[in-house]
Amino acid sequence: MSRSPNQQSVHLSVDGKDIELPVRRSTQGQRVIEIENLRKAGIFTYDPGFIATASCDSSITFVDGEQGILTYRGYPIEQLASHSSHLETCYLLFHGELPSATQLDEFTGSIRHHTLVHEHLVNFFRGFHADAHPMAMLCSAVGALSAFYHKTTDITDAEDRELSAMRLIAKIPTLAAMSYKHSIGQPYVYPDNSKDYASNFLYMMFSTPCESYHLDPAVAHAMDVLLLLHADHEQNASTSTVRLAASSGANPFACVSAGIASLWGPAHGGANEAALRMLMEIGDDKHIGKFIARAKDPDDPFRLMGFGHRIYKNHDPRARVMQQLCAQVLEAQGSSNSPLLRTARTLERIALEDDYFIKRKLYPNVDFYSGIILQALGVPTDMFTVIFAIGRTAGWVAHLNEMLGTDYRIGRPRQLYTGFTERDFVPLERREG
Ligand code: SDX
Repeated sequence: MSRSPNQQSVHLSVDGKDIELPVRRSTQGQRVIEIENLRKAGIFTYDPGFIATASCDSSITFVDGEQGILTYRGYPIEQLASHSSHLETCYLLFHGELPSATQLDEFTGSIRHHTLVHEHLVNFFRGFHADAHPMAMLCSAVGALSAFYHKTTDITDAEDRELSAMRLIAKIPTLAAMSYKHSIGQPYVYPDNSKDYASNFLYMMFSTPCESYHLDPAVAHAMDVLLLLHADHEQNASTSTVRLAASSGANPFACVSAGIASLWGPAHGGANEAALRMLMEIGDDKHIGKFIARAKDPDDPFRLMGFGHRIYKNHDPRARVMQQLCAQVLEAQGSSNSPLLRTARTLERIALEDDYFIKRKLYPNVDFYSGIILQALGVPTDMFTVIFAIGRTAGWVAHLNEMLGTDYRIGRPRQLYTGFTERDFVPLERREG
């Protein structure tokens, strides 16, 4: 790698041609090689799964997988989880700085102003069977918001972008709660804007018109911390989906709906639901060995759900906070000796002592303990990824705004073509078989 006076660059020789590729520095973490010049040399890079490829530059979130570090706009996730709130973190991710008291009041007021959804969406939900998965309903309903706000989604206008972001942050808990109420046949509960964000969501989820609803502040706090921990995680699959959809100029509601669809996969946000089901299937510690053996078997597609991560090759800092939160919630509920927590801790201990996991640097991730907490908060398993989506909406709208506020281009990856070379059409009568 040679250094020009004020910029590094690397040189490649392709078919005898010398190509200089500029290197760009980060403020933290890896540098990048800008590879656009390769096209002139008639060669592409190949990196399916984007193991070593940066899709953009961003100043929102930083993850150091080797050190197990996660910061939102430079603030460590541990400090935000201890001292901030989910809504304050939404402001931080979107605007880049922690809000003053006045800014936080105005932001909170703006979110409260948008918690209601159009009454016609009630008919939309009524079209689903009762056993529809809440993620299917949420993904559809968020996309359907495009139909109600298509006049104010000029993504080139910063004010429209901010309004769409406020609407999405404000309405997704309402739509999530409607998905849940629909699945249990109970009436929808309208938002109560006298409540804070997490309390309002739990109220819409669990209250009924027939009796007064008492919310334990410890439960509301635990939900708020969970949402904060899930708020953003740089260019993960769902955020990259949102960015790619937005790069064509699609409206923010459709883009976030695409992000929800991507998050649903068990390799991504669906892992929290899968991890709890796995812990419940394990049942007793004596079965752990069988599951570990399956996870290590190259011929068995089973993976230890809630374990491993593309970036973290050390503990996921969110999992550590989640483990502490889990113990606090269970302690507060008088079930600190929860069999599920015991199984999770034994599984984690055995896995972290096993060479297979040590060699591959596989640690518990954000999804390993979250399901135990959500179950303790009374959230049904098929709502776990919905909760993840509520938290991650903050990151999705922040990345949308960041990308759309800069000179971006439509995302259009290239490929390594491995199909047939050109051949002539074969009329039907001359085809074999
Ligand atoms: C999230 O990207 C993000 O930031 C995501 C996220 C966010 O906040 O947005 O952090 C949220 O999605 C967390 C991850 C949730 N998913 C799971 O818990 C599902 C289980 N985990 C695996 O599917 C896997 O670890 C991934 C998908 C998370 C990561 O996959 P990678 O980076 O493509 O790694 P890999 O599949 O290439 O695995 C490397 C090796 C393989 O073994 P070898 O082929 O080298 O022999 O590790 C093994 C894998 O078989 N491996 C596992 C494993 N995870 C990886 N083996 C057993 N159990 C596991 N969980």
